[in-house]
Amino acid sequence: MKAIKYLMIGSLFLLVTACGSGATEEQAEVADADKSAMKLYKNNCMSCHGNDLSGRVGPGLQQVGSKMTEEKLVEIITVGANGMPGYENVLSAEEIGQLAKWLSEKKE
Ligand code: HEC
Repeated sequence: MKAIKYLMIGSLFLLVTACGSGATEEQAEVADADKSAMKLYKNNCMSCHGNDLSGRVGPGLQQVGSKMTEEKLVEIITVGANGMPGYENVLSAEEIGQLAKWLSEKKE
């Protein structure tokens, strides 16, 4: 009887440690997505929107997430806007999605 009890405690412990490592992996993934979005921004958008999203030729994007939905951001990046080129033939849909998600989190 005692052995079963230990076994149960043992498997519970395993479960907890397994979940713990899952969470850190997820966090690492999020950080990776942020990093690649920032790289895409630097290479494609920074010249017009500023190195800290504060805007230059284009408007500042520091609070764009409280103004626009992720879907709207995908649309603007894909087709462009007044004075802004569309990125349909430059970036993949996945890259545009990463940028839109990253920008949609810019709320102050
Ligand atoms: C050639 C300069 C230029 C580049 C490069 C550029 N933009 Fe823009 N962007 C603009 C201009 C100008 C506007 C304003 C358009 C308008 O008022 O309709 C704008 C508007 C936007 C908006 C809407 C903001 C708002 O408040 O209305 C978003 C979002 C945006 N750009 C994101 C991006 C992203 C992401 C990239 C890179 C993939 C990028 N832009 C590259 C010039 C640029």
